[in-house]
Parts: sequence; C-alpha cells; structure tokens
Amino acid sequence: MGRGPRHPSGTPRPRPWGLLRGVTVLAVVAGAFAIVIFGGDVNASAAKAKKGGYQWTLPANLPEPRVPANNPMTQPKVTLGRFLFYDARLSGNGKQSCSSCHLQKKAFTDGLPRAIGSTGELHPRSSQTLTNVAYHGVLTWANPGLTRLEKQMEVPLFGDNPVEMGLNDRNKAKVLARFRRVKQYRVMFKRAFPNQAQPIGYGNIIRAIASFQRTLISGNSKYDRWLRGAATMTASEQRGMSLFFGERAECHHCHGNFNFTDQVVYKGGPTPEISFHNTGLFNIGGTGAFPEPNRGVFELTGRPDDMGKFRAPTLRNIAVTKPYMHDGSLPTLRSVVDFYAAGGRVIADGPLAGDGRASPLRSDLTVGIDLSEQEKTDLVMFLKTLTDRSFLRAKALSDPFAAQRARARRAAAAKR
Ligand code: HEC
Ligand code: HEC
Repeated sequence: MGRGPRHPSGTPRPRPWGLLRGVTVLAVVAGAFAIVIFGGDVNASAAKAKKGGYQWTLPANLPEPRVPANNPMTQPKVTLGRFLFYDARLSGNGKQSCSSCHLQKKAFTDGLPRAIGSTGELHPRSSQTLTNVAYHGVLTWANPGLTRLEKQMEVPLFGDNPVEMGLNDRNKAKVLARFRRVKQYRVMFKRAFPNQAQPIGYGNIIRAIASFQRTLISGNSKYDRWLRGAATMTASEQRGMSLFFGERAECHHCHGNFNFTDQVVYKGGPTPEISFHNTGLFNIGGTGAFPEPNRGVFELTGRPDDMGKFRAPTLRNIAVTKPYMHDGSLPTLRSVVDFYAAGGRVIADGPLAGDGRASPLRSDLTVGIDLSEQEKTDLVMFLKTLTDRSFLRAKALSDPFAAQRARARRAAAAKR
C-alpha cells in the first residue's frame, strides 16, 4: 500500500467537519478508526492470498467482506461466476441473464421503475444495485429472512411469483445440459470445483455467482478519495455532506455507515441489528397502509407494525440508479430530497390517495426537514460524489462474452 489512509481533519485542507455537532464528530472519528482497522485487514488478506486464498483488492476505507465457511472465495469460482452472471442460457427460455436486470453501467440496476422477467412478467419492485452487496446484513427491499447471497439467488432463479429467470422442474435438467455441452464451461467448473465427478449443477452455479457478486466492491468514489485525502470537495458538496451527516437532515441514521446503509456485515465485524423503516411514501386512507404486494416486511410477517417498512438501501452510486425507491416511483435525486424535506408523499386522488406526511406509521426520523433550495441542491451534489466511475467500468466486473466477441472480431480483422 502506498500512502496510508488519513483522517480527513488531519489534512492541510479546510475542515469540512468544523460545522458539525458532537454526535457527527464522534461518527467521523469512528469512521477514521475504522479506516485504520480495515487497512490492517487488507494487509492480512494479501498475506493469506499467497497461501492459495483469494486476493482481495480493497480500498483502505473498506473492510474485507464476510464469506460463508462453506463457500470460500477462490479466483476460479469468481471467474466462473462472472460468466454465469452474464449468460442468458441460465434462464428457462434463454432470454435473460442476471445482467439483464443488473447492468454494470447503471451500477447493476436496470433503469426501469420495476423489473421485467424473462417471460415478460412485471416485477412488483425495482431492480436493486449490487454495489457492495457483500456487505449487506440482509438482502432485497424487505425480507428479514434473506441474509445470504446463496439463499437470495434461489429467488431470481427458481421464483415463480413473479417469474424472473424462469427455472422450474420442467426445464431445470435441460438448462444444465446447455452448460454441460460447452467445453469452456466444463473446464471452468472443473477448475472452480476440483475433485467433483459432476461439478456442473445448481449448487455450484449458485456458489460461483455468489463469489462473483462478493467482488462487486465499490470504494473509489470522489467521497472515498476525499476520505483518503486524495480529492477535494466543492463548497456545495461539503455543505451537502454536513447536512447528510448532521442532525437536521438525519440521513445518516439510516444511511450513515461506510456502505451508506444502517446494517453491514464484514469479516470479524459484529452481526448487525437489522431494522426496516416506513418513510411515509404511502398513507392509504390515513391508516398508514401501503399498496399490495408492496407493503414491505408486512407482506411476510403480517404484523401491523411492519406495514410499509423497507430496508435502507446503500446510496453508493445512487446518481446512476434512478428511478428510486422499492417501486421506482421517485424519478430523480431531487425528487427524493423533496420527498424527505416534505416528510412524506402526498397522493391527492385515486385508489392510493393519502398524505404520507400524516402517516401514523412513518419513522420518527423522516418527519420533514426545513431545507432551502440551495440546501436541497447541496444534498444532491453530495449524493453525486458517491458515484464510482472505476466500478462502473471495471473490466473484471464486465460482460466476459462481450470481451470474447471483441477479441474474435479483432482476430478475424487481422486475418483479412
Ligand atoms: C427480472 C429482473 C431480474 C433478474 C433477471 C435478476 N434480478 Fe436480482 N433483483 C431484481 C429485483 C426486482 C430485485 C429486488 C427484489 C425484491 O426486493 O423483491 C433484485 C434483488 C437482487 C439482490 C439483492 C440486492 C440487495 O441489495 O439486497 C441480489 C443479490 C440479486 N438481485 C442478484 C441477482 C442474481 C445473482 C441474478 C441472476 C441469478 C438476478 N439477481 C437476476 C431483479 C432481477
Ligand atoms: C428512517 C430511516 C431513513 C432516513 C432517516 C433516511 N432514509 Fe433514505 N431510505 C430509507 C429507506 C427505508 C429507503 C427505501 C424506501 C422505499 O423503497 O420505499 C430509502 C431510500 C432512499 C433513497 C433511494 C434509494 C434507491 O435505491 O432507490 C435515497 C436516494 C435516499 N433514501 C436518500 C436519503 C437522504 C438524502 C436522506 C436524508 C435527507 C435519507 N435518505 C434519510 C431510509 C431512510
């Protein structure tokens, strides 16, 4: 590692934290402490890689992800997982891959308000970013039971409500045969899962894709570089950051950790407490109700308390993942900031009518913020510093078939 991580206030630049009050300053100090600790982890992991493990390349301010004992990271698994993630042969009708709804240039979202599955079925929710998905303590918009990537993947692969990849008992064998026929896959599966008589099966497909997904690490945004003392924020970005981490806008209560969520897991870290929040997006009939089948955790528990409660998503790369919220109902970052400033959404008429600002179930942390036009702009400017262009373009995370096709085209052109 070159220059070590620095505490932001230990730099010669003006101190953007000077404006903040006690709690935030504590959080910042904790953040700097974490940088030191995580930095140590990175070195340890480099040493381990020499012994045949996986070589993480992590920015100094991000910790090593936690990896389940029964699916350790290896480079051959990650390589195989990358091919499978981008391969439409993995869907029942051959029309969709994971990447159809999780596009790298959009930080692994699809730009649609709601996703559309391989058979054309409309998903009730919006595709989520896979940015730093390895650090999530709980997965998807609102499911307390999904805590492992391996488990979550059964949903897009085998789910039938709605159909995503569309695998089922009628086509599962046929789909596996597609992979067994391909020499390149036979080689890659053997390398990834040595000493297995028939490595090409769904268990290994899931293990490999999960390993690939754990490498979707983003920590090189302007904000990260600023943390490491390698970038300067504009005055507007700094004001937005102060608002974000301050007690007036309160964003940090739910989006305040290194991954801009409120629950992270990482190697050697504690198991986080998982919480879900009702932000006042709906208040149908004044009862706090959300529309079916998007009533948040309530869909699974049926507990009145869980109505409209969702997981706070990461805000990393948020500028490229519009539209926003679980149902894609807020089109721009500015509209999200307006929403939080108002303290809920008002829907004037129709079957969803209701004043979210008056919802009896809305979180006490999203009760509205008195923000000037300039302050709203500042918040948006800060959110835009969370975009990591190197992540959106990283070759190692890109479509390997596109790379192969380009190589083949170049070879053919050279022959002519
Ligand atoms: C039809 C579009 C579609 C396809 C295909 C698809 N996904 Fe998703 N993905 C979604 C949607 C929508 C969500 C949010 C689901 C929810 O909350 O109910 C999601 C959520 C996720 C999450 C949770 C992210 C988080 O922040 O918790 C992961 C991980 C994921 N998908 C991985 C995959 C993998 C791996 C594949 C291929 C095997 C895949 N997806 C295929 C649309 C899709
Ligand atoms: C009480 C916890 C809480 C607070 C405080 C909070 N958020 Fe959120 N945020 C959430 C939840 C939960 C969602 C998802 C809601 C949904 O999908 O219905 C969300 C969604 C978002 C999204 C859209 C993410 C996406 O992928 O679509 C943005 C942007 C965002 N919040 C920014 C902010 C900002 C800026 C603030 C401060 C003004 C803030 N949040 C305060 C919990 C919170």
